[in-house]
Amino acid sequence: MRYLVVFLVSFVFISCRKDHPFPESEHEDWGVYNPHPYTFPTTFKNFPSPAQPDWNQTTVEGVILGRKLYYDPILGTNGNSCSACHQQQNAFTIAATGPNGMGIPAHINLAWNSGYGWTGAAPVLDSVALADLAEGNIFLNANNDSIQARFARHPVYPELFWKAFGVDIVAASLPERQKYISYALAQFMRTQISYNAKFDQYLRGEVSLSSDETAGYNIFMSENKGDCFHCHGDATNPMWRDNLRHNNGLNASFSGNDLGYFNNSGNPDDIGKFRTPTLRNIELTAPYMHDGRFATLEEVVDFYSTGLQHSPTIDPLMKKVDVGGVQLNPAEKAQLIAFLKTLTDYTFISDPALSEPE
Ligand code: HEC
Ligand code: HEC
Repeated sequence: MRYLVVFLVSFVFISCRKDHPFPESEHEDWGVYNPHPYTFPTTFKNFPSPAQPDWNQTTVEGVILGRKLYYDPILGTNGNSCSACHQQQNAFTIAATGPNGMGIPAHINLAWNSGYGWTGAAPVLDSVALADLAEGNIFLNANNDSIQARFARHPVYPELFWKAFGVDIVAASLPERQKYISYALAQFMRTQISYNAKFDQYLRGEVSLSSDETAGYNIFMSENKGDCFHCHGDATNPMWRDNLRHNNGLNASFSGNDLGYFNNSGNPDDIGKFRTPTLRNIELTAPYMHDGRFATLEEVVDFYSTGLQHSPTIDPLMKKVDVGGVQLNPAEKAQLIAFLKTLTDYTFISDPALSEPE
């Protein structure tokens, strides 16, 4: 840690120019910025604190900057901000697919994931936005010359970057600028923590579930009913996903995006495999699956019930694939969906700390 500080301090001296617009005294403060005050709900007790690398610890200053960037079309030339596709009222997704034909993943408890994107191929949250900032990227159509020019004439960004990272964002090289933008965005995304759905309140003893919701949870948990919990977690797993990749039986044959992690690894064993998405806030995040093929939870449950497709890489946990699925009757389907809706967190989608800053 000491070496890191020494390295960072010398970096500040090397990279700051004589005509730097900020008072000299701020240089000394840098390195003792304020850690972000995380509070963790009791229901997360089985989970360690969120992963955050030593080199991009979450700070009050970094989160302020990241939140502003997340909502600001300044990073793109097509009018999009991150929030154009990742909107708070839908748990940070929108009811659409992206321009690459992929569904838009919600941003929920991302700091606890071990891989990012539908295939989980991006290992570190702190670098996910680098792809968005690449010249001409289809999501933002970023143009790095214009980002630099806009920062240069912006009333607050130079100061916010200075406070968060001790970097002169206008003078910084292109890779450095992209890096700090991405770091700040990751710091903000690490604060998108959902823990107050009805099911969380139930686990804390604050509310009770209806009989349909309870029946739905039992179907979810039962090996010979829904059998969902192996991949999507249970009451002891507040993330509602297992952090692993599976082929859950969407296709009998594969091409393009449907090839899943094979497109990243080149290994035929990975054909059709995707990272299990969280079921938190699932009521708000339609359309479903990596390509948004299902518009409603009813369609999803029909798929698991009778629509499973066999293929060589089908997950062994899809035990009833030979009969098309878990064969729920209409009442059981409705109960399963009633349970899934207890995972909706209205506090999260209205949390002022996560909304667009003034
Ligand atoms: C035009 C829509 C669009 C915009 C704008 C956009 N994204 Fe995304 N985002 C997507 C799509 C689509 C994916 C899924 C990509 C994939 O897996 O192939 C995604 C995936 C992600 C993920 C991975 C989430 C997970 O669950 O693993 C993160 C993090 C993310 N985006 C952050 C951002 C940030 C930060 C910005 C702004 C710099 C941004 N996005 C702008 C559409 C968008
Ligand atoms: C073998 C592991 C596995 C089992 C068992 C399983 N799922 Fe999934 N589930 C996945 C994977 C993997 C995906 C993502 C697939 C994709 O996008 O191609 C997924 C996607 C979903 C989605 C869409 C998520 C989103 O954000 O688009 C829902 C909803 C869902 N599953 C519900 C269920 C329910 C309900 C059950 C039980 C009836 C179940 N799953 C059983 C692995 C599983």
